Amino acid sequence: MTKPGRTIFLIVETVVVVFALLYFAGRFTSNVAVEYSDPLENFKYGSTGGEILTGIPYSIWMTLPRIFDLPGGRYESFGFLYESGKDLPIGVSKRRYQGIDRVSFNCAICHYGSVRDTPDSKPMLVAGMPSNTVDLRAFYKFMFDAAKDQRFSAALVLAEDKTMGIHEDFINRQIIRYYAMLAMQSFMLGYSQRLNFVLLEPEFGPGRVDTFNAAKVLLNFPTGPDKMPENERVGTADFPSIWYQRKREGMQLHWDGNNTNVAERNRSAAFGTGAYPPTLDRPNMQRIVNWLLDDAKPPKYPYPIDAALAARGKAVYGELCDRCHGPDGVNFAANYKDLGKVTPIAEIGTDRHRLDSYSYPLAVNQSQFYAGTKYPEERFRHFRKTYGYANLPLDGIWLRAPYLHNGSVPTLHDLFETSANRPPTFYRGDDVYDPIRAGFKSNSSNRNGRTFFLLDTSVVGNGNQGHEGKYYGTELPQTDKDALVEYLKTF
Ligand code: HEC
Ligand code: HEC
Repeated sequence: MTKPGRTIFLIVETVVVVFALLYFAGRFTSNVAVEYSDPLENFKYGSTGGEILTGIPYSIWMTLPRIFDLPGGRYESFGFLYESGKDLPIGVSKRRYQGIDRVSFNCAICHYGSVRDTPDSKPMLVAGMPSNTVDLRAFYKFMFDAAKDQRFSAALVLAEDKTMGIHEDFINRQIIRYYAMLAMQSFMLGYSQRLNFVLLEPEFGPGRVDTFNAAKVLLNFPTGPDKMPENERVGTADFPSIWYQRKREGMQLHWDGNNTNVAERNRSAAFGTGAYPPTLDRPNMQRIVNWLLDDAKPPKYPYPIDAALAARGKAVYGELCDRCHGPDGVNFAANYKDLGKVTPIAEIGTDRHRLDSYSYPLAVNQSQFYAGTKYPEERFRHFRKTYGYANLPLDGIWLRAPYLHNGSVPTLHDLFETSANRPPTFYRGDDVYDPIRAGFKSNSSNRNGRTFFLLDTSVVGNGNQGHEGKYYGTELPQTDKDALVEYLKTF
C-alpha cells in the first residue's frame, strides 16, 4: 500500500472506530423514559425509575401473554386496565435503558380504579382510587411460573415480536437471545424465592397487598413461616385512595398511622414500583407528587342522592363520626379534633394482623433506606410503631369499597351492621357499582373472562370485626344507618 493510501485507511479506520465507540457508548448508557406533558397521563404511564433495576424488556412483556395464552393476549385477566389505543395498561411505564425498552409498574398500578353501572356499560376509570380490580399476586405468580416454563424462550419471544410488529434491531435481538431472557429468568427465580413468603400467606386477591412484609424482604429481614413471629406474618392491606395529599400533611397515615409525613409516604411508596434510592427518577417523581398534592380529587357520586335522607345523615355523622373522620369529604385538615390520629386497637377492634406486621425493628431499620446514599436528606425519619389504626379522612368514600384496612366489608351498608351480620364471604374484583348498598357487586364469581376472588373473613388477616358499637353507627335505627350511607355518598 502507498503511504497516502495507508494514511487514508488509518483515518477512515479511526473515524469508524470512534463512531462505533460513540454509538455503543450512547446506546449502552441511554436512560430515557417516555415523557408525558399532561400530569394525568404522567400519573398513568410516567416513570418513577423502576425500569432500571427491576424492569422487564418491552418485547418480553408484550409477548408473554400471547405465548402463554392469557385471554385477549394481554394482562387484562389480572384486572389491569387498558385504555383504547394503548399498548400498555394503566400503571405501566416505559424507558429505554442501555439500548433496550423496558417497562415497570408505577403508582397507578395500585392507585387507579374502575367503576361501571352494569356489566355491559363502559367503565369510568378513576385516578387515585384504589385499584379495585388489580390482582398483583396473581400477576407475580404468572411471571414466576412463566420464567420456569419451557415456553419462556427467546425464539418464541422474537417470533411473537414479528407477528405483533414490534421491531427490535439486530443488536437487541442478540441481547434478547443470549442475555435478557436468561437474566430475567435468574432474576425471577431469585425474586420468587425472596417473595416466597407472599405465596405462603393467604391470598390477597384483587385490590390488596402485603405492604410491610415486602419492606422486610428489602431489608434482608428473615421472612417465612419458620423465621418470623407468628403474629407478624400476615400484613394484608387494602389499597387506599390517595387524593388530596396536601390536606393530609401532618396526619398519622398509612392504615396504622405509622408515618406523619406525606413526602416520606410517597418515597416509601416508590419502593413498591421497584424504584430504589439510586434509581428513583426524582424529577418525574416530583411531578407525580405535585399532582397528587393538589390536583388529584375524587369524582362526584354519579347516581341520585336522596337530599332529605342525606341531610338527616349529616346530623348523625356530626354527632358520631365527625370527631374521628373530619367534617366532610373536602374540608378536612390535620389539626381537626381526632382526625389523623390513631385509635387504639383495643378500642377500634378491627383485625390486628396488618398492625402487628409493622414491627418496632422494622420502624427502626427503615431509616436505613436512603442512609449512606447520595441523598441523606431523603432518609426516613417519620416512621413509628403504633398501636392501632388511623382515623382517616373519608373523601370519595363511595369508591373505596370494600371497607376497612383489610377490605373485609364489601359495602357501606354492611359496615354499619355488627360483624355477626356482615357477609362472612363475598367476591372481590368486580367493578359494577351497587348504589343501594354503596359498594361494588360482590356476589358473582366471574364475568367476561375475569375470575373474582372469594374473600373468606374466617381466614387469618381477613377478619371483618371491629368498628362496631354505639360510636360507630352499628346500634342506630335502620333509617339512621340508611341516612348515614346517603350522606357519605356526598363525600
Ligand atoms: C404495589 C402497590 C402499590 C404501589 C405500586 C404504590 N402504592 Fe401507594 N399504597 C399501597 C398500599 C397497599 C398502601 C397502604 C399501606 C398500608 O398502610 O399498609 C399505600 C399507601 C399510599 C399512601 C398513603 C395513603 C394514606 O393516606 O394513608 C400514599 C400517599 C401512596 N400510597 C402513594 C403512592 C405513590 C406516590 C406511589 C408511586 C410512587 C405508590 N403509592 C405506589 C399500594 C401501592
Ligand atoms: C374513634 C374514632 C372513630 C369513630 C368515632 C368512627 N370511626 Fe370510622 N374509622 C375509624 C378507624 C380507626 C377506621 C379504620 C379501621 C380499620 O381500617 O381497621 C375507620 C374506618 C371507617 C371507614 C372505612 C374507611 C375505608 O377506607 O375503608 C368508614 C367508611 C368509616 N370509618 C365511617 C365512619 C362513620 C360513618 C362513623 C360514624 C358513625 C365512624 N366511622 C365513626 C375511626 C372511627
